[in-house]
Amino acid sequence: ARKCELQGLWKNELGSNMTLSALDAAGAFTGSYHTAVAATNKRIVVSPLKGAQQHPSTKGKVTFGFTVQWQFADSITVFVGQCFVDRQGKETLETTWLLREEVPSRRDSWKATRIGTNVFTRIK
Ligand code: BTN
Repeated sequence: ARKCELQGLWKNELGSNMTLSALDAAGAFTGSYHTAVAATNKRIVVSPLKGAQQHPSTKGKVTFGFTVQWQFADSITVFVGQCFVDRQGKETLETTWLLREEVPSRRDSWKATRIGTNVFTRIK
C-alpha cells in the first residue's frame, strides 16, 4: 500500500476545505481551513490551523492532530485523525473533532463542547 501524505488540499463531507503545508523537520505543519458550516450566524472567514504529524510510521498510516483558530468566532476546534490509503491509492483522513465555544459563565461550561467526526478526501 502507498503511503499517506498530509500536504495538499482536502475536502470533507460537509463541503469544508482545508490546505495543509509540508511538514517541517519536527513533523509540524500549518494550513488554512474554510468551513462550509458554522455554529454562529457570523460571516465565515478562512482560518489558520497548526498541527503535528506523529513520527512517520513505517506502515504509512500516520496519526496527526491540529487546531483551528477561528477568525470569525470565539470558539476553537481541535481535530485528531489518521490517514489511510486504499488499494487504488485513494487517501482518506478519518478525524474526530472537539469544538469549544466560549460561554459567559462556569455554570454554562457543561454545554460548551461539541464532538463529531469528519472524513476528508484529497482534492489536490
Ligand atoms: C464556529 O461556528 O464556532 C466555528 C466554525 C466551526 C466549524 C465546525 S469545526 C467541526 C466541523 N467540521 C467542519 O468542517 N466544520 C465544523
